[in-house]
Amino acid sequence: MVKKIAVLTSGGDAPGMNATIRSVVRTAAYNNIKVVGIRKGFSGLLSGDMEDMTPRSVSETIHKGGTILYTARCPEMLTTEGQDKAATVCKVLGLDGLIVIGGDGSLKGGLSLVERGVNVIGIPGTIDLDLCCTDYTIGFDTAVNTAMDAINKIRDTSSSHERCSIVEVMGRNAGYIALWCSLTGGAEEALIPEDKQRNVNTCVNMIMEHRSKGKKHNLIVVAEGIGKSAELAKEIESITGITTRATILGYLQRGGSPTALDRMHGSVMGYEAVNIILKGKRNRIVIYKDGKHRDIDITEGLNVTREYDPFMYKLIQVLAI
Ligand code: F6P
Repeated sequence: MVKKIAVLTSGGDAPGMNATIRSVVRTAAYNNIKVVGIRKGFSGLLSGDMEDMTPRSVSETIHKGGTILYTARCPEMLTTEGQDKAATVCKVLGLDGLIVIGGDGSLKGGLSLVERGVNVIGIPGTIDLDLCCTDYTIGFDTAVNTAMDAINKIRDTSSSHERCSIVEVMGRNAGYIALWCSLTGGAEEALIPEDKQRNVNTCVNMIMEHRSKGKKHNLIVVAEGIGKSAELAKEIESITGITTRATILGYLQRGGSPTALDRMHGSVMGYEAVNIILKGKRNRIVIYKDGKHRDIDITEGLNVTREYDPFMYKLIQVLAI
């Protein structure tokens, strides 16, 4: 008999986390399971910052960005003492399962609890899309659409002045947002952490080639992990003589009302997470793979690596001609 579960959001917030929490809380209520909402991720678990949740606790949240449970990065969860304490809290609470909504680091925090006997179910929630065992992470679509919208606006002014624009998007270790924004925003080049071959020289060559073919302005997207966009702009300007401006979009991309896709994945994944616990399964990650929602063992899932696929680069270059 499943009686009590808990849910928390951890790491960087992502649009659609609220739709996910709502789904967890309401699916649990539908099955007469009590839900404890833990505030501020693992920090709240360690400090006892939590509340009982009912279907009304999640009213009017499906359309909201951020996370109503708050979130945090929790250095204490990287220590053995912190992990022991967090596992003890879960046991004292009498949890039949702890649902962790977050990215790679957050699910690794969950894994440390699994190793201490806690039943943890992970739900991928990060704008970065960098959890390799799943084809989708909640928040990615909203973040890309927000960045694409900003790029559209930058394009207007860039083309009016016949300038070169550098737009820096989020993604410390992963270039998915940068690649998607480049392709969908009509950029000519993307610099991402996974590809070290591109640099100021490849940008300059591309700019000169495109100008010689009649292009009046240029657009380059840079992932946060590459950074130094302002310096890149200065270098490009000094080599080419073309006025170049850098815009760093930053945290703008993490906020905002979730798109339908993020609400859909959040709703399905939250429902699946509760049902995994109801079925008596333990220590899983809910994933979206080959067009279907499924689940995978948490240790196995966190060990999956994904080869970088250069196809998107190729396409960006072909379409920039
Ligand atoms: O949540 C993912 C992410 O936004 C990354 O794209 C970014 O590198 C990082 O979080 C920023 O983290 P913080 O909120 O701690 O500055």
